Amino acid sequence: MLKIELLGLEFENPLILASGVVDMTPELLRRAHREGAGGVVTKSIGIEPRKGYENPTIVELPYGLINAMGLPNPGWEAFLEEFKGQKFEFPVIVSVFGGNPDEFAFLVERLDEVADAFELNLSCPHAKGYGMEIGQDPENVYRIVKVTKEITDKPIIAKLTPNTNDIVKLGLAAERAEADAVSAINTVKAIAIDIYAKRPILSNKVGGYSGPGIKPIALRAVYDLAKSLDIPIIGIGGITSWEDAVEFFLAGASAVQIGTAVYLKGLSVFKEIANGLENYLRTEGFSSIREIIGLALKV
Ligand code: SIN
Repeated sequence: MLKIELLGLEFENPLILASGVVDMTPELLRRAHREGAGGVVTKSIGIEPRKGYENPTIVELPYGLINAMGLPNPGWEAFLEEFKGQKFEFPVIVSVFGGNPDEFAFLVERLDEVADAFELNLSCPHAKGYGMEIGQDPENVYRIVKVTKEITDKPIIAKLTPNTNDIVKLGLAAERAEADAVSAINTVKAIAIDIYAKRPILSNKVGGYSGPGIKPIALRAVYDLAKSLDIPIIGIGGITSWEDAVEFFLAGASAVQIGTAVYLKGLSVFKEIANGLENYLRTEGFSSIREIIGLALKV
């Protein structure tokens, strides 16, 4: 019922572990799959190792989290060393970030052998010279997707930023460059202030807001993208319950990614959402998740 074929890959279910949550080692990825994730996205990998920002890097709020980790990662060489030769029984999407098209192309070429697909991080909201600083410009999105498509036959997913006045323009640029899918959204640029210290809480001051508080924003982005794009959309943003997931499929998502809910509820959230989805499909008279994708766009 929940099995899907997406980007030419078989997913046991359309619930994918989002980048940046318990995804640093092959064993953690296997654990997410054992706990019910249909596929996984790795932490974003760059050219050089990065330590990330000093603590505090996360603030918990009533309706989600603000994080600014600073793209910590071991760098492509150490990542390749660790993942080379590993076999996975589920799709592994490698997230990469770079400061320009050449850096993205370099990473995709070097990591091709360990990736089933790539997700281009065009949307981290707070890293100087990376993420949304380049991904807010449709021309950059086009050039980066184009150059990576020329380097690999593996599917390319462009992860889009909500910190823009028109996410559809970014999606159309990715589609024009022949991206295989877009994922939306990355976190919303945000800040939290300690009223007694009278200063921003995060060491980086500004971070990205995720979790239930951004769900309606993410859902609207998916809905608008689905109305304009022909390529698949992977929905991300505050999905915490099966009802949230259903909304994203009805808005046109072909799969969803789950991140903050894993932080808040643990990996068991995958089975909880999968069970709820199956039950919903059965009671509503559907035999496959495919049948509900985009139904809310038809009215
Ligand atoms: C981070 O590493 O700080 C977050 C990455 C992202 O938002 O893409």
